[in-house]
Amino acid sequence: MSKLLVVIGVTGTQGGSVARLYQTEPGWRIRGITRHLSKPSNAPLREAGIELVAADLDDPLSLDQAFKDANAIYALTDFWQFLQIPAIHEEAAKTGRKPNQVAMDREIQQGRNIVDAAAKQLRTLDRLVLSTLSDSENWSQGAITWNLHFDGKARYTDYLKATYPDLASRTSYLQMGSYLNNWRMGPLFAPQKQHDGSFIFPAMAVPNGKAIPYVDPPNDTGYFVKALISAPAGTTLLGYGELMTAEQFVAAWGLVLGKEVCVQSLTEEVALAAGMPAFMAQEIGESGEYATTYGWDGGDPEVKHPADVGVDVGKLTKVEDFVKHEDWSSVL
Ligand SMILES: NC(=O)c1ccc[n+]([C@@H]2O[C@H](COP(=O)([O-])OP(=O)(O)OC[C@H]3O[C@@H](n4cnc5c(N)ncnc54)[C@H](OP(=O)(O)O)[C@@H]3O)[C@@H](O)[C@H]2O)c1
Repeated sequence: MSKLLVVIGVTGTQGGSVARLYQTEPGWRIRGITRHLSKPSNAPLREAGIELVAADLDDPLSLDQAFKDANAIYALTDFWQFLQIPAIHEEAAKTGRKPNQVAMDREIQQGRNIVDAAAKQLRTLDRLVLSTLSDSENWSQGAITWNLHFDGKARYTDYLKATYPDLASRTSYLQMGSYLNNWRMGPLFAPQKQHDGSFIFPAMAVPNGKAIPYVDPPNDTGYFVKALISAPAGTTLLGYGELMTAEQFVAAWGLVLGKEVCVQSLTEEVALAAGMPAFMAQEIGESGEYATTYGWDGGDPEVKHPADVGVDVGKLTKVEDFVKHEDWSSVL
């Protein structure tokens, strides 16, 4: 009888990677969760033999059904989607809070819903792998307070550990690094061509800053999750293909593409000057400050690296290969 891996976010970047890898893994079958069962883009998942079920992280009963009989669960929440929802901005305006604070509350509640539902499956569940990020307020000793897309994930991780010790004894944590494709998020994150043909590339860069863990999630996530399902529970893994400073990343970009390029530190001030809303500029600025000053994992001594936990590191994407294969025509 094959084991059942339930994947949240199967139609997205991280979950899709996990499903694609496990679909060829002997002894496993996959059940993927989506809010939109009839999306035409689901066809390749079904053709690959992945069972799709409708469930919503805001609907605890639907999670109880979706997690039924799971031997392993890969779980994530999606912070950034909330900032696309007008109701989040309306609620922020009404309550005098910032949209990212409202988004954080929503993300924490969804994370708690996942944990509550997983805790009901202990008859079969061997491993919950939670996609999370480090607790920046804690590791910066209160210096960083607006890296809310990290800290919401840390809050529901705390809830899991405090509320369900048995589930916690079967849980491992994946802290995904900085996506190599973040430049696609918009002009502020992309290389900018100058009049003389050279480029400025905004990035998480400060002189002598900590190295950034760069990751190619569509390819790499599956390999991290596979290692975490085999490794002892309680493992926290920093998910990356290469660890390098933003200056080194930008230099590699220029070298591969034969372009002259300078890095620009993507601070709150730079983001504001480029027209980003103040709450967002603060979130982006503080996350860069956290990553470069304290490290993406905050310097948590418990955090393991891919080679430490048996990740097939030869399969992970190298920065040079990502740059070579990415379509940069829109900015070049
Ligand atoms: N960008 C970075 O550098 C970076 C680094 C580390 C971590 N992260 C984190 O990565 C997370 C996003 O993961 P991703 O990149 O895989 O996202 P993605 O590609 O945008 O996919 C989001 C997935 O979540 C599912 N989903 C969203 N809301 C749901 C709900 N209410 N119920 C059920 N499923 C829901 C979507 O499924 P359906 O739409 O089909 O329902 C979709 O499959 C964010 O929280 C972000 O903070 C990002």
